[in-house]
Amino acid sequence: MPTILVTGGAGYIGSHTAKRLLEADYHVVVLDNMRTGHRWAIERLRRLAEQGSSQFVFVQGDVADTALVVRLVHEYGVEAAVHFAALSLVGESMQHPERYFAENVAKGIALFNALVVAGVRYVVFSSTAAVYGIPERVPIAEDTPTHPLNPYGASKRMLEEALRWLGEVHPFRSISLRYFNAAGADPDGWLGEAHDPETHLIPLAIRSVLCPDEDRVAQLLGYSPTQDQPLDRPPLRLFGTDYPTPDGTCIRDYIHVSDLAEAHVVALEALLDGHPTDCWNVGTGEGYSVRQVIDAVERVTGRTVPVVEAPRRPGDPPVLVAEAKKLKRLGWEPKYTELRAIVHTAWRWHNAALELVPSSQNRAI
Ligand code: UFG
Repeated sequence: MPTILVTGGAGYIGSHTAKRLLEADYHVVVLDNMRTGHRWAIERLRRLAEQGSSQFVFVQGDVADTALVVRLVHEYGVEAAVHFAALSLVGESMQHPERYFAENVAKGIALFNALVVAGVRYVVFSSTAAVYGIPERVPIAEDTPTHPLNPYGASKRMLEEALRWLGEVHPFRSISLRYFNAAGADPDGWLGEAHDPETHLIPLAIRSVLCPDEDRVAQLLGYSPTQDQPLDRPPLRLFGTDYPTPDGTCIRDYIHVSDLAEAHVVALEALLDGHPTDCWNVGTGEGYSVRQVIDAVERVTGRTVPVVEAPRRPGDPPVLVAEAKKLKRLGWEPKYTELRAIVHTAWRWHNAALELVPSSQNRAI
């Protein structure tokens, strides 16, 4: 089976995709600078590979290190790359746009350049629904004009365009996957979402119902419930209740991270089969409001989410729901279409995050 370079493979979506690739018998080389990636994710991927026949290699390094990327391609016979490594906080990008252009755009282009030089012909790129901005119509079709509203979305759109031009000129093809709201955790309980800081709705709603000593994800991130400083655990802030939606709160398309991981395998195999360069949406086509998410978290956990209503968060479009026609045409279908099922996997992960990991691995690097 081909060897796939996975940049950012120690992160949330990257590690789930690396797991899916290993399960599909691909050999995997993860390149991650470990600024936001997790050692425990790497250990779990290593363990998974040991149980099967795939080779798994982890290299700590930077995607913009051209010599390193070229060496990895030659040493391991890399045939394709899946590029996740990036900054991904919309709010931060509005405060420090330069970081997003340096880390995402400049480094992404350096990576693509190294891949082209080394003879890699296929890239699956981690893009985002944020390229659309406020869409004219929902569900959002893939030919909808892109108008990113923040530097994060703009940085992803720029890389999509760079990939398109590389494909025009070189024997090189790519598929950019525009994710809607990635959510949930590996149903096997091996991997899950652990951002620091956490800004996403579902993990924040789950954490709002946990006591510090129950918060396994916080412990995995290195916070000890016995520390003098208690964990900062404010109630969930509900950003905006006056949107033009049935219950006044924003509607999003929550796509389970395992379905998202599978979409990368479908894209990769399409490229290996000769599919031209393209951009595909990845979502379920179903939208849920913030209040519906809170309700799902309450039903799954059996606890009440403490909520305070807050003003709108700048830059939040009222409704983002995907039309994922291109993926579906290739036979991809999300397995998780029920919000409660997605939340359930996240809840299981929040309860079991410390299992399987030796305590020395419990800190993010
Ligand atoms: N929300 C709250 N309170 C919170 C956190 C979120 O009310 O504490 C609301 C947001 O206002 C939004 C919804 O919950 O309406 C979902 O918010 P998330 O932060 O979980 O996700 P976003 O929709 O803002 O962003 C996600 C990805 C981005 C990507 C975007 C594209 O995190 O990287 O989808 O659709 F750009």
